[in-house]
Amino acid sequence: MNKAEQQISETIEIFEQVAAGYDNPSLRFFPFCGDRIALHLQLKRGQKVLDIATGTGAALIAAAQMVGPQGRVQAIDLAKNMLDRAERTLRMNGLNNADFHLMDATKLDFKSAYFDAVICSFGLFFLPDMPAALKEWYRVLKPGGRLIFTSFSANAFQPQAKMFVEDIETAGGIMDDPGWQRLNNEDECRAILKQAGFGNIQLLQEQLGYHLNDEQGWRDIILNSGLRAIFNQLPVEKQDNFLRRHLEKIAALKRDKGLWLDVEVLFSSGQRPTDADK
Ligand SMILES: C[S@@+](CC[C@H](N)C(=O)[O-])C[C@H]1O[C@@H](n2cnc3c(N)ncnc32)[C@H](O)[C@@H]1O
Repeated sequence: MNKAEQQISETIEIFEQVAAGYDNPSLRFFPFCGDRIALHLQLKRGQKVLDIATGTGAALIAAAQMVGPQGRVQAIDLAKNMLDRAERTLRMNGLNNADFHLMDATKLDFKSAYFDAVICSFGLFFLPDMPAALKEWYRVLKPGGRLIFTSFSANAFQPQAKMFVEDIETAGGIMDDPGWQRLNNEDECRAILKQAGFGNIQLLQEQLGYHLNDEQGWRDIILNSGLRAIFNQLPVEKQDNFLRRHLEKIAALKRDKGLWLDVEVLFSSGQRPTDADK
């Protein structure tokens, strides 16, 4: 296994582990964001959509509702537990216009120029070679079709995330470059889209944050999201103690309405040019 494959496999292992708790209400920014994506894309009935790194289906469900029974969404992910939950949620919503595939975001098994829209919500920053992935996504889009991806802005989850990282380091964890902080500014997002050949690039920043009841909500986020990869660095015997001490500090941030969770999100979109645009 080369380094990139190793990185992908470690990411997938985490999402297999967190899938059962991923739809926890403390993490409701994921479905909030999925709804915003479908709206920003202005999906039309009958369209063909690809949802990359679909997870438990936050963006998939919103897209499937908007394209309607004549439309279809292809949902891909490498974590089977996540994909299984997405499929269950789709059925629970009375929808059946999506297909699910265990597929790597960087090696798409779809023909070129097929999709009207490609979505990737909070997935691109996990991929070792982001420019190569974007080229592949461009390939499967029809000329004139639109890609949208989301990432977290530098303010997202602060100050909790910074405190979390500091406390992990103090407890003996070693911080790798956390994937979720890549693509955290407009310039980087714009540049990577341009480099892959996209035109009509649009960047939008929205605050999707809310109040968690208390520090236990932050605990839910650590244990059921990509942050789990950082938490897992601690030896099991240190984890309970770490959580107790860290959450005591987080509790001090609580105000009358609860614990504010900043979720500032960047929506980056671009269009595959048509021949007339070139
Ligand atoms: C933070 S979750 C986002 C899920 C969903 N899009 C959402 O917004 O809730 C990231 C997802 O990316 C998936 N993923 C990571 N690397 C991948 C890869 N190389 N190919 C396919 N999926 C991948 C993970 O399994 C996980 O489900």
